[in-house]
Amino acid sequence: MPEKVTISLIKADVGSLCGHHVVHPKQLEVAREKLEEAKKNGLIIDYYVFNCGDDLELLMTHTKGEGHPDIHGLAWHTFKEVTEKVSKPLKLYAAGQDLLVETFSGNVKGMGPGVAEMEITERPSEPIIVFAADKTEPGAWNFPLYKIFASPDNTAGLVIDPQMHEGFIFRVMDVIEGKVVDLSCPEELYTLIALLGTPGRYVVERIFRKTDKAIAAVASTSRLNLIAGKYVGKDDPVLIVRAQHGFPAVGEVLAPFAFPHLVAGWMRGSHNGPLMPVSLKDARCTFFDGPPRVVALGFQIANGYLIGLHGSEPADLFSDPAFDRARMVALEIADYMRRMGEFMPARLGPEELEYTTLPKILDKLKDRFKHV
Ligand code: F6R
Ligand code: MG
Ligand code: MG
Repeated sequence: MPEKVTISLIKADVGSLCGHHVVHPKQLEVAREKLEEAKKNGLIIDYYVFNCGDDLELLMTHTKGEGHPDIHGLAWHTFKEVTEKVSKPLKLYAAGQDLLVETFSGNVKGMGPGVAEMEITERPSEPIIVFAADKTEPGAWNFPLYKIFASPDNTAGLVIDPQMHEGFIFRVMDVIEGKVVDLSCPEELYTLIALLGTPGRYVVERIFRKTDKAIAAVASTSRLNLIAGKYVGKDDPVLIVRAQHGFPAVGEVLAPFAFPHLVAGWMRGSHNGPLMPVSLKDARCTFFDGPPRVVALGFQIANGYLIGLHGSEPADLFSDPAFDRARMVALEIADYMRRMGEFMPARLGPEELEYTTLPKILDKLKDRFKHV
């Protein structure tokens, strides 16, 4: 059994079927072939390939640690191969969209793909939940992560479990300045909320348990438009959370998603909409390119292997009818928000639209404005 295991979740939108809608089965197939080969070669221990809407998600386990060039290279070359072998020949929509540079330089961070990685010492039993969202941004995790790791109204363990009672440390990133700050909760709870309430700028990067500094959660934080300097779609974030036995229980991790909170994204990355929890088969955005969706996949890690229900096929946690009501509420909210048309706050504010094509439209009016 390896002493330490790294879980790497690397994702990219490299084109999709019928607009920005859904990954093509052939793309999944090519990605699987590539990761199967890496498993046979011993580079990775295990993998699971899936999609959330138009995003291709590569979940991998290995012993190389975080940010390793071989693992990042594998992900990069997989995305490249899917683009060349499938997206381009089938003329899928926005082929290779998130591969912002030509050549790989050791780490996919800053090159387009989103990354969440954690190195763990595997516990005697290691349940994890992998989240992936489409048509939204990393700040979409702010609200649920605050609930899961800092709100006693959500997480009974914060009150009852001695290992969690001391609280958690949130590492928050300012994505505009490229800086991080560690906030210790519950003492700095109000400061945490002051930051996380601005999800377009401050996002949770990772969370540690206070008693032993064990890693509890890690999220992707890339903001593509800040890298590319122009609108290239939303970042459709991913998140890995460890559960149970001194971490929040699976049910405590999932509970906040029963409330479909408003997130930025949806049509043209320019609207606020409810985050709808869905099963893998329903992870495809249709209505006004949405509403934004999230899937939750449950695994046990055993000696680095991804144990699911059938082989590495995970528990599809939001397929539970217990989330049906959340879906209905999300659709109500989606309908309500759409009736607002292009008026704020249904449409995002000007600072969020800076990198979209809207400034080009407004530019045309520049000379027609007269002083009063
Ligand atoms: C949002 C998204 C879609 C597109 C929209 C327009 O993240 O991917 O809502 O922004 O479908 O796409 P284009 O400009 O490619 O026609
Ligand atoms: Mg797309
Ligand atoms: Mg997407």
